[in-house]
Amino acid sequence: MTAPASLSQDELKTLVGRAALDHVVAGEVVGVGTGSTVNKFIDALGTVKERIAGAVSSSEASTARLKALGIRVLDANEVTSLSVYIDGADEIDGRGYMVKGGGAALTREKIVAALAERFVCIADESKLVQTLGAFPLPVEVIPMAAAQIARRFGAMGGQATLRLKDGQPLVTDNGQHILDVRGLSIADPLAFESEVNQWPGVVTVGVFAHQKARVCLLGTAQGVRTLTF
Ligand code: 5RP
Repeated sequence: MTAPASLSQDELKTLVGRAALDHVVAGEVVGVGTGSTVNKFIDALGTVKERIAGAVSSSEASTARLKALGIRVLDANEVTSLSVYIDGADEIDGRGYMVKGGGAALTREKIVAALAERFVCIADESKLVQTLGAFPLPVEVIPMAAAQIARRFGAMGGQATLRLKDGQPLVTDNGQHILDVRGLSIADPLAFESEVNQWPGVVTVGVFAHQKARVCLLGTAQGVRTLTF
């Protein structure tokens, strides 16, 4: 698919959202992520909804959008596996490792991704990075552990701040809080994810290395570039 050089970021998201339809398996349930890029995918999915059995969603926001288009939404407990999970990313590197959670849906995203055989990441080219960490790393935490976890990030050179919404701590779909950690450079995403995930009070760290992308549909001025990992 070729795109004119003048496409905006929003148009690039539309392009990859539509391209992701090629990865949806007819007759099956598809895993659906969260965010502005995924919203384009959901809109495209609405045009072929009779071809799928339904969706497992990673957030209340995506569930609402899917249902508004008449797409059946199944609970994650109702499926044993999914062929494909389609989601965006805040950063993706050349190995398919990602930072996610800019939309605060990281925990459910990781749960649905873990059900899927293949993670297909859809992103505009601004998301492709050499090393993860320039985007503030989202970490979902149990509120009573937030300060303790922030100190641990401080000890590794990061600065963690509590994400706010309307002046109050943002509350996730799971009733927890989000820390955003600046100043990290994540050279070994697999080790980093394993380490942070076992800190008491961490619900989910936004590094997706164990559930990395297998394919990335990258929206570029030249069209959709397909990266495989
Ligand atoms: C939500 C996410 C999103 O996938 C990520 O923030 C990218 O979003 P967008 O497509 O809006 O740039 O992880 O928790």
